Order: sequence, then structure tokens, then C-alpha cells
Amino acid sequence: MKKKVVASLLCVAMGMTTIIGSTAVFAEEAEATEEAAVDLEGVDLENTKIGISIYQFADNFMTLYRTELVRYLTEDLGFNADNIVVQDGKNDQAEQTNQINNFITDQVDVMILNLVQSSSAPQVTDMCNEAGIPVVYINRQPDETESDRWAADGIKATYVGADARQSGTFQGEEILETANGGDINGDGKVSYIMVQGDPENIDAQYRTEYSVKALTDAGVEVEELLLQRGDWDQAKGQQIVQDALTQYGEQVEVVFCNNDAMALGALQAIQAAGRVINEDIYLVGVDALTDAVQNIVDGNFTGTVFNDHFSQAQTAANMAVKYLKGEDVDPVNMVDYVKVTADNAAEILEKIK
Ligand code: GAL
Repeated sequence: MKKKVVASLLCVAMGMTTIIGSTAVFAEEAEATEEAAVDLEGVDLENTKIGISIYQFADNFMTLYRTELVRYLTEDLGFNADNIVVQDGKNDQAEQTNQINNFITDQVDVMILNLVQSSSAPQVTDMCNEAGIPVVYINRQPDETESDRWAADGIKATYVGADARQSGTFQGEEILETANGGDINGDGKVSYIMVQGDPENIDAQYRTEYSVKALTDAGVEVEELLLQRGDWDQAKGQQIVQDALTQYGEQVEVVFCNNDAMALGALQAIQAAGRVINEDIYLVGVDALTDAVQNIVDGNFTGTVFNDHFSQAQTAANMAVKYLKGEDVDPVNMVDYVKVTADNAAEILEKIK
């Protein structure tokens, strides 16, 4: 586990927007710098209170993320688990704002927040700032104007995430790299359906745009048969794709899903319709959930993109530590995505299991 600590920490102080280049699970070579990376000197591990709120516990990916965040804070960094409170925002911003108010009343030392609505960041930041509590936002990126404001006004707020443009581009590339570049029926264009996450979320917006852009940038003609929101949810993904296959049948060559949960739902619909992945239809997701990666190994998924929850969780915790130590933190800190296809799925599976 300790190896995973390091890569997250290596790139903390590299500029306004830090790109954390080496994915934590691949960071074996970074071990030598570990001492410098995890500097907890002066941090009161026993008594520090950390308030965490996740937008919704029912989200598959955020469950992996939350588990790693708590594991890292307690096992690797040594914080007292009794002083780490993790709340379920229940996909309700009013509920989550109450939780944040309670964290303020309880005088937590730092918050780690996965906002229900990233558009509430200005209000939440002001609440925390007035209470003198630093905040690390995760997963749902506030507007650039907001992170610029933190930097300009010296507000102790930061964002840790991954640039969703990269994940979208990787999805498009995975289709381009198939035997026929996604044009299964050879009619000169790639006809697709797009199953979108919650469209308020920048990850959903960028993955939708950049997956298709990778095709058009390569000079490929595309045809969008359907774009529908599935809110990151497996059951919704299944329903959308079932209906789309009924309506468009053989016309559907590619199913883009903004995440793996929806792609796993899509797979159920695709198999129920008697279609065969990588033969008469392609399917790509994002996150690298274990089931999705296993499906790539088994030939039932074309590809996914590893949304590195290890690096993101560890970087978020490390930013919290920096605040506790009174250090400055860059306003935006990005972790790289990793493309996952049949070429590396078995290897990735070993690393995420
Ligand atoms: C995305 C992830 C989705 C979902 C979403 C929640 O980064 O790919 O599966 O967890 O975050 O905001």
C-alpha cells in the first residue's frame, strides 16, 4: 500500500494546475522519495477532526473512492478513525449543506467535499472560509472562475480530480483502434448512442463531447442516433440502451457510456438483444470498475478508462494534511486517467482488485 502513497504526493507543488502524471498503482519506482512525501510532522493525528461528505453513497465509483479515502487517512496516515465523519449527501444539496453546517458547528479542522452540485461551491466555500475551515473539493469540479477566486483571494480551498476531457478522448481512441474504427457496417460513418451521466457534472459534459471529438478530429464521420441522460446509474443505462436497440437496431455500432455502471447496464441490454460485443457492436465506459475490466478480459466490453480513485483519494487526503500544516495548496490538482483495453485489462485487473 505504501507505494500508492507516493505518486500522489510527488506532484503536489508544480504550479497552479498540477497534473499528477504517474498513476499511483504504477508508481513502484517512486518509493525512494516516500519519506519526503508523507510529512505528517506537527499534525495532531489523534485529535484532528475531518468532515467528509460524498454526494451519494449509492454511486459505485464514489464508493470505491470513499473506501480508499478512509483507508488511506486511517491506515496509511494514521488519523484517528473516531474523528473522521463521512456523510451521505443523498444526492440532495440542501441535505449536504446541512451536513456542512454541522461540520462547522462541530469545528472540524478540515473538510473533504464531493458536492452534490458543483455550482454550490461559491456558497459552500464562503461558509467554510468564514468559519476558518479549509476545504478540499473532490470529483465534481467547481467552475474555473471559482478556483481562480480562491487563488486570487487566498481562500483555503482546492480541487482534486481528473480532467474528464482526457477520459472522453481515450474512449474515442479506443473505438478508433478497433479493427474497423467503429464503422462496423462499412457505410463510411460511425453511428452511436451516448448514455450520459448527470449533465450538471463537468465529467458528463466533457466525456460526451471529447469521446466524439476524438473521432471527428481523426476525420471520421459520425452520426448521433441518441443522447440520453442516465445519471451514472446502471438500471437507467440498461433501460436507455434497451429502448435504443429496439428503436435503431443494427444501426447502432457504438455505445458510449460516460461511466462503467451505465455501461454494465448497457451490456445487459446488448446481450438481451442478441448482439455480440466487438463483433456487431462496440461498448466503452469510464472508471475501470472491476466488473467492467473483467468484461474486457472476457471480450464483453470494448474498453474503459481507469479513473484512478487511489491517486485521487490519496491526493485529496494529502492536500488536507498540507492545510493542517498551514501550507499553501494549489487550487486545482489533476490525476491522469489510463486507457484500458484488451491489451492491458488483465494487468489493470490485478492492480485494482
Ligand atoms: C465520475 C465517475 C462516475 C460518477 C461521477 C460522480 O467521475 O466516472 O462514475 O461516480 O464521477 O460525480
